[in-house]
Amino acid sequence: MSTKPASSRKSSVGKVHLPPKAFAAKARIGSMAAYERLYRESIKRPTDFWAREAKDLQWRKPWTKTLVWKAPFAKWFVGGKLNVCENCVDRHAEGPRRNKAAILWEGEPGDRRTLTYGQLHREVCRFANALEAAGVRSGDRVLIYMPMVPEAAIAMLACARIGAVHNVVFGGFAADAIADRLEDSGATTVVTADGGWRRGKVVALKPAVDEALRRYKHVKRVIVLRRCGNPVDMRAKRDTWWHDATAAVSARHTARAFDSEHPLFMLYTSGSTGKPKGILHTSGGYLTGTHATCKYVFDLRDEDVYWCTADVGWITGHSYIVYGPLAIGATQVMYEGAPNFPDFGRFWKIIEDHGVSVFYTAPTAIRAFIRAGDHFPAAADLSSLRLLGSVGEPINPEAWNWYHRHIGGGRCPIVDTWWQTETGAVMIAPIPGATPLKPGSAARPFFGIDAAVLDDAGRECPPDQEGRLVIRKPWPSMARTIHGDPARFKKTYWSDYPGLYTAGDGARRDKDGDFRIIGRLDDVLNVSGHRLGTAEIESALVAHPAVAEAAVIGRPDDIKGQAVAAFVTLKTGVGETSALKEELRRHVAGVIGAIARPDDLVFAPGLPKTRSGKIMRRLLKELITTGSISGNITTLEDFTVIDTLRERIGGEPTP
Ligand code: WTA
Repeated sequence: MSTKPASSRKSSVGKVHLPPKAFAAKARIGSMAAYERLYRESIKRPTDFWAREAKDLQWRKPWTKTLVWKAPFAKWFVGGKLNVCENCVDRHAEGPRRNKAAILWEGEPGDRRTLTYGQLHREVCRFANALEAAGVRSGDRVLIYMPMVPEAAIAMLACARIGAVHNVVFGGFAADAIADRLEDSGATTVVTADGGWRRGKVVALKPAVDEALRRYKHVKRVIVLRRCGNPVDMRAKRDTWWHDATAAVSARHTARAFDSEHPLFMLYTSGSTGKPKGILHTSGGYLTGTHATCKYVFDLRDEDVYWCTADVGWITGHSYIVYGPLAIGATQVMYEGAPNFPDFGRFWKIIEDHGVSVFYTAPTAIRAFIRAGDHFPAAADLSSLRLLGSVGEPINPEAWNWYHRHIGGGRCPIVDTWWQTETGAVMIAPIPGATPLKPGSAARPFFGIDAAVLDDAGRECPPDQEGRLVIRKPWPSMARTIHGDPARFKKTYWSDYPGLYTAGDGARRDKDGDFRIIGRLDDVLNVSGHRLGTAEIESALVAHPAVAEAAVIGRPDDIKGQAVAAFVTLKTGVGETSALKEELRRHVAGVIGAIARPDDLVFAPGLPKTRSGKIMRRLLKELITTGSISGNITTLEDFTVIDTLRERIGGEPTP
């Protein structure tokens, strides 16, 4: 790992932005002194802090013990019982928020729907009844593969209501990825749609489910929402339309209480092996974490119109579209389609039309907007905004400054939120009414979160020295395990330093104690904020009959953060043609999904390896980034390999 001091880097700190007075005056935490006080308290006695936050939720039975911690396995609010869906829907539908908009939905073609909390309640109850009529019971796994329509959230909430464990698969994943997740989770039911709208076209979803179900045979019921009207095959007995399944059932449903530690969902995420991990989250702790961060980090209020642009297929969509905002009773925008349809003005028009006040998006989107031109946001009235957020990857100071000026009009704080699928909720972020903001810094840990940066020996790094980001105390929304593989959970996250959670990210703290996240330390790429394992893409490539060996690395990219670069050695006798290059790129998209399609594909007669046969990805990365190798290559087994690759990269522009 690099332990270069920051002084050798280009300084990118720039100006510090203090919270606007008007914002601070109304915020729940209105000064740094208030933050420091509450933070100190929360770290001294985290269970007291979290127990207080958990009381914002509606419990059917109080817990008897706040935390039972047998590292690395945590149980929060032990003995407590609640229904997560009731917390997100019923308690609002039964009170003064009954006729408040929960979801202001906009389809890509421009169609709109509003669901009040009262209406959402009826829809969720109907779907819960439909799932039960289909034989789904508490603990059963339900795979959800949907476009960004309200029914995606309704399906998740209905699962939570009946205690079924949902596993949402991002609509951009391909059939093999669905089949892997069905198999690993042991799902019995699938909820999908005919398709969704993306850049003016229908992206069909049902055919991918059909293909996955040819491999995995244990699904008894597929419920299909008609969204686009594209033709789909419906298999008799197994497949049923959403509108039919919900027509026959009541809009009332009695929610049972479940244990605080009842599994809520699993969500697969990439790691450094070829097999994605099913991260398991449970009920009471997860909801406490997502609710508390909506309260303090997004400072959400009843009068806000909140919009998170993530997809429900990722953790951000779970925590900050479905569970957190609904638990706090927010009104939110949900949008189906692409940011650039029909042009790059779409987001800004949505903000203007719906009066969005809190906007949460990703650096990759911001960089694409910068490239598209300032005239797009300039053409919209963005004066309703009061707070901006960023997530998914480090935000570079240039993008931060543009976002602050062109979207926030210089008046909106930006909360750069660092967290992960595994952490469930935001872990490091500014508190908008309190924290002085430094572009590119995620600032301070959230209340109750004991974050630190350690060197290889486990010592805390001095200011400005890069090390590994760790969390030293358990927190309620932490992953409970990897589904079916507790040993892997322990090994992946809890073995670098005994008893501490290692995030897999590099970070450094400055002298004020603010964190700057550098990026992944393992073989995980972050492409447009999406996590992809190099090993997953490599194994997809090697599965192609023409390929002997492959090495995948992330190349810095101005828009996506990282682009996928693949070095491929073909089997003897296979010709290196540009048609084959295209075919291999398509092949990866077909196996994993379009997000994994290599941006660069270089044929490599040989790959740089150590004498023990390990591929030296570090050299490939340097080569593709700078065009040459400057570092130590004495461990390289065959030096000519590098020369050949250098020639190929130089003489061969990106395909
Ligand atoms: C990266 C997304 C820097 C990081 C919520 C982490 C970030 C991985 C930030 C998790 C941020 C996320 N600054 N890096 N604000 N947010 N990351 O599981 O590398 O899809 O480990 O969760 O994204 O990605 P995941």
